[in-house]
Amino acid sequence: MTSAENHGAAGRYPTGSRAFPHRDLLAIGQLERHEILFLLDEAEQWVEMNRRAAKHVDLLAGLTVINAFFENSTRTLLSFEIAGKRLGADVVNMHAAQSSVKKGETLIDTAITLNAMRPDAIVIRHGSSGATALIADEVDCPVLNAGDGQHEHPTQALLDALALRHALRERGHAAEDFTGLTVTICGDVLHSRVARSNVLCLQAMGASVRVCSPPALMPSHVEAMGAAAYTDFDEALAGADVAMMLRLQTERMSGQFVPSPREYHHLYGLTAARLAKAAPDAIVMHPGPMNRGVEIDSDVADMLDRSIITRQVEMGVAIRMACLDVLTRRRRGVEGWGEKA
Ligand code: CP
Repeated sequence: MTSAENHGAAGRYPTGSRAFPHRDLLAIGQLERHEILFLLDEAEQWVEMNRRAAKHVDLLAGLTVINAFFENSTRTLLSFEIAGKRLGADVVNMHAAQSSVKKGETLIDTAITLNAMRPDAIVIRHGSSGATALIADEVDCPVLNAGDGQHEHPTQALLDALALRHALRERGHAAEDFTGLTVTICGDVLHSRVARSNVLCLQAMGASVRVCSPPALMPSHVEAMGAAAYTDFDEALAGADVAMMLRLQTERMSGQFVPSPREYHHLYGLTAARLAKAAPDAIVMHPGPMNRGVEIDSDVADMLDRSIITRQVEMGVAIRMACLDVLTRRRRGVEGWGEKA
């Protein structure tokens, strides 16, 4: 019995590799709705295993995963490392600050170098939009985008969807997708790869998405993506089922986009009073890292009955285990996934 059938998902997506025919995971924008559902369902078994005392399998034994991070990370790097190790892979982390990138080696040459070491998967975070696709073109193994510039952060959107699905189930929401749900994403949308991936993922899952930011931080493509654009946070939050907060990404800003963190908090910070404008049991999310007192108040971030921020982190490991498992199935010769590579 496949894990999909285990979770009652039979019939919701094609069998074998047709459930996820891609070599790489570069963007939510590449994925069909059933492919997103498939990855979420695959992750459920790892949520269960990760809650047990013994959390190790030998599924990826003998395989090598390289985590190549050209930007700082806590959650994504650690959860990919933990995910690979819990699946039995040999995991190696390459931190750009200690690599030959600092000696002037190009991204392409770095990719060719990593490829020559015959990894079975490469996970990449890079500050330039499109860098992961560039590397994917140069290597022979699956590439997983761990965040590229302002473009996409697909595993973040997937783990957010998984965390939201779990929280909704606990609230008696029986549906497997997000039909009928209104999600408000508020913050520095212009610089946010998380916002883009989440707009695409949440909409694919059936949610209505409102995007809110100061005018200077609202990208022109939001409405073309199907989301509703707001500059007034109170309006954007009215009746919403989920408030997903984003930090100001000052490291990506050239110039000043908001007058001050204090003024930003006044207009766009999620306070308990503001949360009262949302649906009565609205769920609070944040991909992290948080700037408490700027985009979100501590009393909201730490609300045990509303905030699922730490659960998002928990689901990050399970989703990354699912992605590493699914993307290496062809190399491992898993039945129905093609000839061993
Ligand atoms: N959400 C997220 O990507 O966090 P890190 O930058 O810590 O990986």
